[in-house]
Amino acid sequence: MFKWLERLFNRPTVDAEKKIFSPDGRVRLFLTLRAGHLSYTVSKDGRELVKKSSLGIAISSMQPLSDHLSVVRSVEREVNEPWETVWGEDRLVANHYRELTVYLAETVGLKRLFTMRFRVFDDGVAFRYELPPQPSFSRLEITDELTEFNVDVNAVAWKIPAYQPDRYEYNYEKTPIYELTESVHTPLTIRLPNKYYLSIHEAALYDYGEMTLKLDEWKALRSDITPLSDGVRARVELPWQTPWRVIMVADRAVDLVKNRITLNLNDPPREDFSWVKPLKFLGIWWAMFVGEWTWAAGERHGATTEHAFEYIDACRRLGVPGLLMEGWNNGWDGDWLKNGKYTLFTQPMPDCDMSKVATYAAQNGVELVGHHETVGFVDNYESQLETAYNYYASLGIKYIKPGYAGSMMMIQGSREFHHSQLGVRHYQKALELAAKYHICLDVHEPIKGTGIERTFPNLLTREGARGQEYEGGALSPSHACILPFTRLLAGGMDYTPGIFDLTNGTKRISSTLARQLALFVTIPSGMLMAADRPRFYEKVRPDAFKFIHDVPVNWEKTVPLLGSIGEYYVVARQGRGTDEWFVGGVTDETSHKIRLELKNFLPDGEFVAEIYRDSELSHYRDNPLDIIIEQKVLTKGDVLDLWLAPGGGFAVRFSRKKL
Ligand code: NOJ
Repeated sequence: MFKWLERLFNRPTVDAEKKIFSPDGRVRLFLTLRAGHLSYTVSKDGRELVKKSSLGIAISSMQPLSDHLSVVRSVEREVNEPWETVWGEDRLVANHYRELTVYLAETVGLKRLFTMRFRVFDDGVAFRYELPPQPSFSRLEITDELTEFNVDVNAVAWKIPAYQPDRYEYNYEKTPIYELTESVHTPLTIRLPNKYYLSIHEAALYDYGEMTLKLDEWKALRSDITPLSDGVRARVELPWQTPWRVIMVADRAVDLVKNRITLNLNDPPREDFSWVKPLKFLGIWWAMFVGEWTWAAGERHGATTEHAFEYIDACRRLGVPGLLMEGWNNGWDGDWLKNGKYTLFTQPMPDCDMSKVATYAAQNGVELVGHHETVGFVDNYESQLETAYNYYASLGIKYIKPGYAGSMMMIQGSREFHHSQLGVRHYQKALELAAKYHICLDVHEPIKGTGIERTFPNLLTREGARGQEYEGGALSPSHACILPFTRLLAGGMDYTPGIFDLTNGTKRISSTLARQLALFVTIPSGMLMAADRPRFYEKVRPDAFKFIHDVPVNWEKTVPLLGSIGEYYVVARQGRGTDEWFVGGVTDETSHKIRLELKNFLPDGEFVAEIYRDSELSHYRDNPLDIIIEQKVLTKGDVLDLWLAPGGGFAVRFSRKKL
């Protein structure tokens, strides 16, 4: 009797096609609904970048949201909203895209509704799933996300593996796509056989597992959302939306570095963050790595009142505005990885008088960077979070470096991945609470960057990749030539550069001295540690330290100049609010000659170039300390020919010639 009603609701889906082009018309996204199933393709200049790729979400105890769909309506608009950053690589960010919003409904079953929102920029595409409130259900267990990124399997990718004990801290490997049968992290940077570059990533990751990627049964890359310990990918409540799925597109590798889509897909800050100030700092840290001091209590304890006073004096003499103190509180004795469970974040060790240290730092105009090593014991940390921030705030401490060492987190009594929904939720909670206390963060062992620092600029940086602490055998010179094209597309990193004691037997560094300076320019970071002990800066190479003193951590404008992934990288940046330009270049284990055409970034006028470069004899293995420091007066009509030694680099400061 109700056959007619059934026919009305269970009507066959109608095929549909939609397309949306970037403002310059070169990047094009095509959406196809065929037999009730949704897929998309992406091209640039008429050449295929992403082949037919399926969309959908799998939900527990329900049909996946991927079939029997029909388009209810669609809306297009163009947005051009440049914006100003609080700090970062550029003061002004262009944000110009065309948007297609497609409202969909199932034609059978629960008749669920969802929206696909696509944005196409001149340098990439992004989309997300949005689920409005529905009459038939309000809570969901996401068991999988079925988003494909079907690129040519013969393309090459630079990957780090996902679900590994050291989180993101791995060396990148170059591999054909067809070998990505195990999950890898994003940003996943890819060179297609047609020579275009892509980087697949995500933006605005909140309260959901991070997206990793692996090949599916059709040999297409597919989202693999980090699961919770019970296997569910995420538990969500409607209305809900996924993070943005992002595909950055570039003609040349070096153009990827200019991509700001991830930041653009995040919301502007909802409150005033003008109190946030980027910071360069020294650290009671490297001395522990080379065995002079210890994190643990004892004769060689590092973070003592006495050492803190010495380092504060050094900050003042060297003109470095901040100081990190690790190992100041209890929890470091014995097996610190296990003891982290009991750490108290307000209890200094007996030889560290934090209030004396804080007073002395304030008298000397030095910002202290507090440290919280949680060892991933989130339950313990969260139970003290507010007290711990309060403690630092009461001492006038405005910066914290939290650490989450350990292969898993303990959250709500379970072992969870750092990158799971519960991990993501914790990092967010800590960040928002820090904002309330006007505290800035430099998160070690973090969740990857997805541009949320646009909304929460107090997230000044992360140390979420293999950094210099892995030197002494586990870092090759090519690593720093891969990061700008991969990890750093997700945001800045505290790489802990500036080691001058390169030949130390305990931690030998695969770098020349000039390269240690270059890293301050090639790796952007709102907080950056000049990581060596002050005596190496003051007594051994004060002439080279001058560059570390002069280089800012906040930029007006960034101009990537040259680069080949894993081989070399050169970038120019203008200091924020200044007339000074800084250029840094790094190479892999082979030497490189480069020609710097100053017209590509330098404005009119005469500039004094202070050049720090490798000599013809420098070599990261046999002769790392050889450096040439010279000055030249140059204009934008000039070129600078530079030689980068194996494992080497260069750094140049251009300041206007005084009349
Ligand atoms: C491991 C981190 O990698 C290192 O940088 C830090 O010093 C120690 N944890 C202690 O927090």
